[in-house]
Amino acid sequence: LDILTKTGVRNATAPDLYGWMFEDINHSGDGGLYGELLTNRAFDGSNIGWGTIPGFTGPSITYQENTCEATGPVITGYKPLGGTQIRLDAFHPLTYSHRTVLAVDIPTTPGSEPVGFANLGWWGIPVTPQTYNVSFFVYPDQFKNQANLATAITISLQSNTTGEIFASTVIPAQSWNVVNYTFISTELVSNVSAPDSNNTLAITFDPAAAAGQTYYFDQISLFGETFKGYQNGLRKDLAQNIYDLKPKFLRWPGGNNIEGFSFQTRWKWWETIGPLEDRWPRPGNWEYYNTNGLGLMEFLEWTESMEMENVLAIYSGYSLGDSDEGDANEYPSSDAALYPLLKEALDELEFCMGLTDTYWGGKRAEYGHPEPFNIKYVEIGNEDWFGQNYPFRFKYLYDGLKAAYPDIIYISTAYNENADYTIDIPEGAMWDTHHYEPPAFFIDGFDFYDNWQESTNNTNVTVFIGEYSVFQIDTPSEVDNFSDPSDIHIFYPRLLSAIAEGVYLLGAERNPNVVKLSSYAPSLQNWNWYNWTPNLVAFDANPLHTVLSVSYYLQKLFNEYRGTESVEVTNSEGDFGPLYWASSVDGGESVFLKVINVNATTVPLNVAIESKWTSVNGSIMTNADPNGFNYKNNATAITPQPLNLTSTKPASDGSWIWDVPGYSITVLQFNL
Ligand code: AHR
Repeated sequence: LDILTKTGVRNATAPDLYGWMFEDINHSGDGGLYGELLTNRAFDGSNIGWGTIPGFTGPSITYQENTCEATGPVITGYKPLGGTQIRLDAFHPLTYSHRTVLAVDIPTTPGSEPVGFANLGWWGIPVTPQTYNVSFFVYPDQFKNQANLATAITISLQSNTTGEIFASTVIPAQSWNVVNYTFISTELVSNVSAPDSNNTLAITFDPAAAAGQTYYFDQISLFGETFKGYQNGLRKDLAQNIYDLKPKFLRWPGGNNIEGFSFQTRWKWWETIGPLEDRWPRPGNWEYYNTNGLGLMEFLEWTESMEMENVLAIYSGYSLGDSDEGDANEYPSSDAALYPLLKEALDELEFCMGLTDTYWGGKRAEYGHPEPFNIKYVEIGNEDWFGQNYPFRFKYLYDGLKAAYPDIIYISTAYNENADYTIDIPEGAMWDTHHYEPPAFFIDGFDFYDNWQESTNNTNVTVFIGEYSVFQIDTPSEVDNFSDPSDIHIFYPRLLSAIAEGVYLLGAERNPNVVKLSSYAPSLQNWNWYNWTPNLVAFDANPLHTVLSVSYYLQKLFNEYRGTESVEVTNSEGDFGPLYWASSVDGGESVFLKVINVNATTVPLNVAIESKWTSVNGSIMTNADPNGFNYKNNATAITPQPLNLTSTKPASDGSWIWDVPGYSITVLQFNL
């Protein structure tokens, strides 16, 4: 390879190329990245499958497309203690949005055991040395508690199997307010690590003091330490996994999950802000209720905490319960009908970016963040290539938003290439394209973006590869001989997935004038409840179990080894395949070279760089079996390793020779 740092064509690299896509799928938000450790904290309908953990109740989930399994309030995830009865109650609502609460009936003649209830967490609760925050609303039944009894409440983290108590605190005895709910918020300090995560949060009363009483509880919450200490923030370890990739942007809140099953159940941003007890739960598009605890403000704080740009998706009028073909039941598309959607998007942007003297900017300040956030990108809808009237909607929403926010970069979910219609994407706007495909698609697509603008006769449009992954099984037998495997989602990304995705991304890196953004999807998978595989990261309640996939490591390597300008590379010995490559330079200090070998056979590589260089180092990810992967019992089966090089210096003629192992992804840094 001749790297033409002096005489070749250079282009500025796309600064935001590698990002992160998030929507609540696979219990990736509630029960995942969102730091709430208790399940079903407000009885919304998080009717999840509970497997075989003792004490769990509730039906198991059966997959049904376009429905949310839980259709109303549920008591799932709670267990009564000491002979207590627990039930749902609709007569003592906490707030307008929290109408169903937990009624806790203490027996009139209890034994000596503490009475009350326990929450079993999202398939368990990890207990480690740290300070937890517990909060809930409590209210005694005023008819039963005429004497206004003073009772204490004990809160403890304890083993679900042995009952061992790991941390405990007592809210002193008091006569509870019988007019309004009392809000309790306290710390729980654990100095120990529990042997496993099969633990509960128990909320109990002294049996004698509380005998015969009924107490109502709602919004029962437990947080451990969160990422960068944000209140109502992100689970620290999972957030750190994301931050380690240094993603440049976050696409949120969907995906399908922006759309709802109907217009009424779309993601309504204004129902996701403010005090948690006032937020509305929502039947998400991925078959479970979303608490909306991870709401608009939390997404903005997430991107703030990780120095990411926002790619905010807004609703364009299509919901997934509408006709799959698009046009039958969708929200109408006249100017008058679309105005409310435009208005809600404008208000949302005002909440995000408005000064504090605007209505929504003021609300943001009231909720704790006076400084405006920045929204760099707005995507209008999601995968709307089927809907014949999307061009009309896109134009209407684009024109209205652009007039108010001219600096935002707007993204169309469809383009002439993948739509059933023609659409005019204005200059400066982007196309979001999605690909869930076998390896061959990505490898063959290496050159897809070469001269793409010219060939499509549209030099205005740039590209966001907004969702992609290799999701089917394949076993290549010889160079570029990839079959067309059956349509079965693999569980974990394979080395071959990362190889194929990497080749496609090299194509993107070689065309920075065209491809500006990319994000793998979906990103997070809870093992206890998921409806889509593969994902970048798989996890359960125990942080020690997390599996970072081979595709995750590809993202990490590719984002780390990036320069500020792409440089031209020529190869006198032939074309791409089985080796694929791309190169860039960084401020006159380094030359980066990424090389992927899609074949089993080692390929000798001779590198000549026009600039004088002094040393080379790098990392490699490889494995004899291209179908190898990281998994729960071997989470580090395939990870990037420092490159073991025979020579780290150029030969006297400036060249450098190295054998590229079969099935490998390599990143090299030549220091000038
Ligand atoms: O990533 C999973 C889903 O795939 C997304 O929600 C949707 O945009 C796509 O169809």
